[in-house]
Amino acid sequence: MPIAASISSKISTPHLEVQGDCILSGELKVSGAKNSALVLMAASLLTEEKLQLQNVPELTDIDVMGNILLTMGVKLKQWKDEMHIDASELHHVELPYELVHGLRASFFCIGPLLARLGQAKIPLPGGCEIGARPVLEHIRGLKALGAFINVEHGVVTASVPGTQKRLKGAEIVLDCPSVGATETILMAAVLAEGHSSIENAAQEPEVQDLSKLLNSMGAKISGAGGPKITIEGVKHLHGCDYKVIPDRIEAGTFLIAAAITRSNLSVAPVIPEHLNSLLQKLRDCGCTLEINKESIHINPGEIKGIDITTQPFPGFPTDLQAPFMALMTTAKGTSVITEKIYENRMKHVAELQRMGASIRVQGNTAVIEGVPQLSAAPVHGGDLRSTAAMVLASLSARGNSQVEGLNHLDRGYASLEEKLNSAGAHIIRH
Ligand code: UD1
Repeated sequence: MPIAASISSKISTPHLEVQGDCILSGELKVSGAKNSALVLMAASLLTEEKLQLQNVPELTDIDVMGNILLTMGVKLKQWKDEMHIDASELHHVELPYELVHGLRASFFCIGPLLARLGQAKIPLPGGCEIGARPVLEHIRGLKALGAFINVEHGVVTASVPGTQKRLKGAEIVLDCPSVGATETILMAAVLAEGHSSIENAAQEPEVQDLSKLLNSMGAKISGAGGPKITIEGVKHLHGCDYKVIPDRIEAGTFLIAAAITRSNLSVAPVIPEHLNSLLQKLRDCGCTLEINKESIHINPGEIKGIDITTQPFPGFPTDLQAPFMALMTTAKGTSVITEKIYENRMKHVAELQRMGASIRVQGNTAVIEGVPQLSAAPVHGGDLRSTAAMVLASLSARGNSQVEGLNHLDRGYASLEEKLNSAGAHIIRH
């Protein structure tokens, strides 16, 4: 029996067996953006009319969010990447912990529930593998819009006072440009009475996507994508047909997969402006890029070490920090990677070290001395993006690796191994 097969048969937890020394070629197809689709699904609660979403990725996080909507009385049908949502009979304003546990995005329902029904009871999402991830800014924003909020025993109980149960427009300045807080406040303010504004708003493409969907439903939002968003409240929103943007983090992961395996590859569909910070860093480390309207072709040269600091959009995304670190482990020279968004997002370092990477960590900074090649090992991804990083590292390593952490991976990458295999990888799921 080959060595890899004998190791695989001994690991009982689900894992990917990834053959190293891989060269990718052709084109990798990018699915719809997970982080957009999740918030757009929550936004469907804002109307009694039917909403149709196209390009919804087939992911476990999407399934969980779908189940949450079903519990609230929403009718939902999904065929591949198309989803029909009918929230006309929305009745439930209380979400049980068992259902929302593990899906932070479930907290997105609080804004629409308050705006449409005037009440919501949702467990606090709590921290996760990468950090504490508070929701104080969401709560502060909702309070500014007139909601009464009580947080007790880990549950947020929110209601809108008055007979009309309508939130009131407010001027809100966020302490930090939180993506989730911006989206929560946006969804609450669209049906509020009067004018609202969000300053120091998150500028991420997913916020812009939400704003576009809401405007297609009849909302009056301007400025999304910039630091100040203004909203004129309307009384009703209507249904619409809307296509989710391509997933910039999946696209970025594929570009880094090409770079780490020194492969010529195309990635599509993409909105290249959503990837500018990554594209600049890929050029800086030696890759040649051909940017088309909806696709990017990458031709990696000799990869050299460069420095990365994660920042809110348009800066380098924290969600690509782990995959980029995997790339830097085999770059020529030294690179310094600083994580500025989450306090606990360096867990992949220990796994990369087990594959022979030379990395020193001090606080949230990693100093990486590139080595010629990693060596295969059984590795475990502790969160979504670090599991993806382990897959990329394994593709480039010498030998066959076993990557555990598929419960994380399947949350955010649709058919990852099938897509990579179609471009020349050899990955088997056990
Ligand atoms: C979203 C993304 C996630 C991405 C992150 C940052 C979704 C479903 N998830 O998460 O993939 O990694 O943006 O790009 O869209 N913070 C506070 N107080 C708050 C809220 C946030 O201090 O009330 C801090 C967080 O602890 C974190 C930083 O702000 O350090 C960014 O968090 P935020 O932008 O809110 O991330 P999420 O919306 O949770």
